[in-house]
Order: sequence, then structure tokens, then C-alpha cells
Amino acid sequence: MKKLVAALSLALFASPLLAADPAEERSVTFLQYCAFCHGEDGKGKTDEGKKTGARDLTNKKWHESVSDERLIASITKGRDRMPSFAAKLKPEEIKALLAEVRAIGGQKK
Ligand code: HEC
Repeated sequence: MKKLVAALSLALFASPLLAADPAEERSVTFLQYCAFCHGEDGKGKTDEGKKTGARDLTNKKWHESVSDERLIASITKGRDRMPSFAAKLKPEEIKALLAEVRAIGGQKK
């Protein structure tokens, strides 16, 4: 929990102009709900990510093979061991996360 609070305050106070490390560009929403499994870097190498088999969101080939619709559906309703976020996040927040996930994979949106 301490780590999460530290990560959140870092995200809140870090200037976007100084963000050189991709991990520093994560939104508060991502840090709060997604980084637990997917990691700040999106690679899914956290303990929980390894346990659940979280997708490596940095994989470009994989990004090219999946549609925006599918990813929106996965984040909204859950997929396999990834939980549903329909009750926690608004559709606009899920859309913003899709753009963020695509950016993690180097895809412009
Ligand atoms: C409890 C761990 C956990 C959390 C928290 C979590 N995920 Fe996942 N995520 C997973 C797992 C496991 C998969 C792999 C599911 C599969 O493909 O079978 C996955 C897959 C994905 C995928 C690929 C889905 C697809 O259609 O292939 C996306 C995108 C994703 N997560 C985004 C997010 C976002 C955004 C959040 C935060 C709102 C989040 N995840 C939170 C575990 C998690």
C-alpha cells in the first residue's frame, strides 16, 4: 500500500514535461487499477501479474492483432483471470485506458 501511495503521489506531482521514463507517464487510473498486475511498465512482470498470467501490454505484434473493440470489451467485462472493471470505471475512463494501453505498445491513437 505504501508503494502505491508513493507511486500515486509521484504521478500527481511529476511534471509531464520531465517524463522521460515511460513508467512515469502512467495515469493515476492505470496506477490505481492496472499496475498491480500489469506493472507500471505494462509488462505484467509483477507478482500478481505472473500469478494471473497478465498480458504483456508492450508487445507490438500482439497489439496489431487485436481490435480496439475487443480491448474495450476485455477491460469492461474482464477476460480469463483479469477482473471486470464495469463497476469501477466509467466508459470514458475505459476509453482513456485503451489509448494508454495502445501508447504502451507504441501505437499512436
Ligand atoms: C488481477 C490482475 C489484473 C488487473 C488488476 C488488470 N489486469 Fe489486464 N489482464 C490480466 C490478465 C490475467 C490478462 C490476460 C487475459 C487473457 O488474455 O486471457 C489481462 C489482459 C489485459 C488486456 C488484453 C485483453 C485482450 O483482449 O487480450 C488488456 C488490454 C488489459 N489487460 C488491460 C488492463 C487494464 C487497462 C487494467 C486496469 C483497468 C487491467 N488490465 C487490470 C490481469 C489483470
